[in-house]
Amino acid sequence: MSKPKKDTLALHGGSKSIELPFEAYNPIGAAEVAAAAAVVESGVLSKYVGRWGEDFFGGPKVLEFERACEKYFGVNHAITVNSWTSGLVAAVGAIGIEPGDEVIVSPWTMCASATAILHWNAIPVFADIDPISFCISPDAIEENITPYTKAIMSIDIGGHSADMDAINAIAQKYGLKVISDTAQSPGAVYKGKMAGTLADVGGYSLNYHKHIHTGEGGILVTNDAKLAERMRLIRNHAEAVVGDMGVTNLANMVGHNFRLGEIECAIGIEQLKKLPDLVASRQKIANRLTHGLAGLRGLRTPVVTPDCTHSYYMYFLVIDDDVTGVGRDKIYEALLAEGVPGLSKNFANIHLLPMYQRKIAYGSKGFPWTSDICHRQVSYDKGICPVAEWMNDRAYIGFHMCAFELDNDKVDLIADAFRKVWSNLETLK
Ligand SMILES: Cc1ncc(COP(=O)(O)O)c(C=O)c1O
Repeated sequence: MSKPKKDTLALHGGSKSIELPFEAYNPIGAAEVAAAAAVVESGVLSKYVGRWGEDFFGGPKVLEFERACEKYFGVNHAITVNSWTSGLVAAVGAIGIEPGDEVIVSPWTMCASATAILHWNAIPVFADIDPISFCISPDAIEENITPYTKAIMSIDIGGHSADMDAINAIAQKYGLKVISDTAQSPGAVYKGKMAGTLADVGGYSLNYHKHIHTGEGGILVTNDAKLAERMRLIRNHAEAVVGDMGVTNLANMVGHNFRLGEIECAIGIEQLKKLPDLVASRQKIANRLTHGLAGLRGLRTPVVTPDCTHSYYMYFLVIDDDVTGVGRDKIYEALLAEGVPGLSKNFANIHLLPMYQRKIAYGSKGFPWTSDICHRQVSYDKGICPVAEWMNDRAYIGFHMCAFELDNDKVDLIADAFRKVWSNLETLK
């Protein structure tokens, strides 16, 4: 049998560019093992109690991790939670959202950003994304404001901050609160400040596929003492605590158990120490990849806004099929066949999920949309977010940078695979 040809696309029977398996990203090491073991040996795996008193705030590792986060992110209050989904629920509740209020959110995110709004029986309104940053577009936010809008949920997606100056200016103009979902972008910088810290409330995910993690977990950050208190209450059985604590504002003081344990916080303390280096190494690798992909016609590599840094959770690529002459799907198929790992071509169009399309959330009768708490019928039709839809349907390919241990050699292999596909574009037509 003849050997597969090196220059022929793997899709067409040639040899693959990448044969090696890529080792899974793993920032957990000896320091985390020792920290977790010390907690186990202490016997204090949690110290929380769901009533007013010292233990309402959690145990020593919770407190230590929270103080370390405050220092690192440069905020007055950091509040740990057992997932960032829980963090988003606490944030939306804390800002005083009423049932039927509208919260403007990006469709280019993970579903929890919007579900946290629905959790309080408020209505997600999807505003389109900016085609360069992939974050919510300030113009689209303004187009979607109604008398019922109460907040903006801005997502710092993939490792890059949204345009917070513009978003905060809109919020100020219309008297809205802002929540930053910075799940994917800890360590990214926006004009000298940490992404996630420029909103009323922000925060980060600590799930296992982020830059740093505790298995599951999340961190809320705010400079507002009142909001911090309300989020701590929602985290820990608010309704049982408010009386003894003397809290008189009972709006959304429905509590949960969103508490993160001592083991996770001990691990989090060690992980946070590593975050700057982990982000710096992603940036180095991403810059090398960008250099390796330079000049491929019709391929746009990530753009970093001046005065910002990108932490490269994802490496978002955009294909202009008018220039390549080959559709995104065909190129994607060819890259997969070459063995490029961690690629995706559908990131998210949350508004098109079945729950929004059929408007069925709580129960089966269409609550909250069919209820009279809803001031108007909000559209989730295809077409409301043309940029996000065009990305998903035609233009986008993502490389999940945080999924693998990457070095120069591996990234060069990826760049070579792209270059091979591009030099064979004619054969894909
Ligand atoms: C943008 C975004 N928001 C929210 C979440 C939810 O975070 P968690 O998995 O910690 O609940 C994620 C998780 O991947 C995310 O990427």
